[in-house]
Amino acid sequence: MSRGGSGPDGLGERPPVVHVPRRAPLVGDYEQRRRSFTWEEARGWLEGLPGGGINIAHEAVDRHAHSELADTVALRFLSRTEPTSELTYADLARLSDVAAVALRELGVERGDRVCTLLPRSPELYLTALGTLKAGAVYCPLFPAFGTEPVRQRLELGSVRVLVTDTLSYTRKVAAVRDRLPGLRVVLLVDAPEQGSDEGGTVPWATVMADAARVVERDGFTIAATAPEDPALLHFTSGTTGRPKGAVHVHEAVVAHHATSRFCLDLAPGDTYWCTADPGWVTGTSYGIIGPLTCGVTVVTDSADFDARRWWSILQDQRISVFYTAPTALRMLMRKGAALAREHDLSALRHVVSVGEPLNPEAVVWGTEAFGMPVHDTWWQTETGAIMVSNYPGMPVRPGSMGRPVPGVEVGILARGEDGRAAVVDGHVHEVSEAGGLGELALRPGWPSMFRGYLGEPERYARAFADGWYLTGDLARRDGDGYLWFVGRADDVIKSAGHLIGPFEVESALMEHPAVAEVGVIGKPDPLAGEIVKAFVTLKAEHEPTEALRRELIVFGRRRLGSVAPREVEFDEHLPHTRSGKVMRRLLKARELGLPEGDLSTVEHPS
Ligand code: PRX
Repeated sequence: MSRGGSGPDGLGERPPVVHVPRRAPLVGDYEQRRRSFTWEEARGWLEGLPGGGINIAHEAVDRHAHSELADTVALRFLSRTEPTSELTYADLARLSDVAAVALRELGVERGDRVCTLLPRSPELYLTALGTLKAGAVYCPLFPAFGTEPVRQRLELGSVRVLVTDTLSYTRKVAAVRDRLPGLRVVLLVDAPEQGSDEGGTVPWATVMADAARVVERDGFTIAATAPEDPALLHFTSGTTGRPKGAVHVHEAVVAHHATSRFCLDLAPGDTYWCTADPGWVTGTSYGIIGPLTCGVTVVTDSADFDARRWWSILQDQRISVFYTAPTALRMLMRKGAALAREHDLSALRHVVSVGEPLNPEAVVWGTEAFGMPVHDTWWQTETGAIMVSNYPGMPVRPGSMGRPVPGVEVGILARGEDGRAAVVDGHVHEVSEAGGLGELALRPGWPSMFRGYLGEPERYARAFADGWYLTGDLARRDGDGYLWFVGRADDVIKSAGHLIGPFEVESALMEHPAVAEVGVIGKPDPLAGEIVKAFVTLKAEHEPTEALRRELIVFGRRRLGSVAPREVEFDEHLPHTRSGKVMRRLLKARELGLPEGDLSTVEHPS
């Protein structure tokens, strides 16, 4: 993405795009909203539980099931193989009660972790909401993960119940089940009610039928969760070490709801499609919780990307608000705007993007294809909700992530030699000049901020300095307060919007008997933003043949699934730091053809 040129403070090259929305945006006047807004005010938009508690599932579902929205479709499931099905808010309330009782009957207690490894199917959503209603912690796993990421997350999360299907279970879990003593119950959603052939598993249908009888007999009372009780566990990746389990609490729903109003502009009557899988944070915060709290109809599709299918969904479902990712937008762009114009998109009124840098050309292309610019938003697994956004009704500066969400304070912090915010005697300094580069930081206090990395208090403490949460992203802020993404301050990889830890990939490849050492980087890719590339040093007795290269790719794919390296290159001389660590940054400089001495450019190859 190119930078510099005629925009504000030399940021951005294209003029702002002004789009007048069809209805008055819920955020109202941004400047005024920013001045007057408090999180207490947003808390007042929700109901809460009697006695002062709060439960995400109550705000997302039960609140509407007892209102005039009871018969509104809450979730509509599209699939290539199954007929379309729907659940109203009343259905969803009742069935998630049943799922909660099913989990309780299986011994799930407050705070226990429940995972799904499922495609976007009704059982995933019922498990998520049922877990929250039972007062347990919901942890989604991405269904395209291979054996190793699944095993590691089940182990790190001490997961007690896994809800999955027979294929995923036999391929990814059965062989490692004896290494997961904490995993007490595996529910299979496709096993017949009378019993499954898979030893050690229980049919979902059986426990749901039993639980339905219990609910019929005894009724159901939602867990009286307190605002600070844990609700969600999302694994994310760092540069080093194992995946980090970011813990979110029930109070987070205040931010999910407020940002769904301000940034997605959602209100009853909307039909909304978020293309992210709930295995990643976007698919949970904005594929389940946020939109349901707004009382909209959420459309989900279990099929993979297909441009023609996507335009048809936007047309046939009369989608009014569409939340997607730059990789998907680039794939749509490749097929051309003409394809879009073959479809009736008259219901659409707001298009929003997240997860990776949104090319300025994609923002502008939106006006051709969707009839409106694409609005970028920025956030992270740790922030739980959107923190920076382009708002409906405000000029979009193509290439900018937008401005802070009301209630959120953003800082650009001066950096030290390691590229991260410099902390001197416990203090950091904000970059004061407009357009200055620094680490993007946020002032803690918004409700959906993560409350810890599971079991790793030191790692959590290291994410903060001098009263700021340090995001690990590098950014600039122009004179008007718009934020511009520059790059990551560390080595994590963003491929098709998915965050991948190089260490996790390196560790998996090291398991191959021919591999002596590995360095993994993100290699720029026009479609996916980055792809995972591994540089491999072989053990002395192994030859760098094409057959071995292919074997390593297959080996990675089997272990890691979708986060495996797409490219493997043999390299006998991996560069090392003085302490003996592989210098990924230098590998990246070589890959980009940059001078090896000039490492400063590696972190923002714009
Ligand atoms: O580097 C930023 C990038 O995605 C990271 C967060 O990834 P994850 O925790 O997986 O959360 C994804 C869902 C929000 C950020 O640190 N990122 C996110 N949004 C943008 C972005 N990079 C550029 N522009 C964005 N709009």
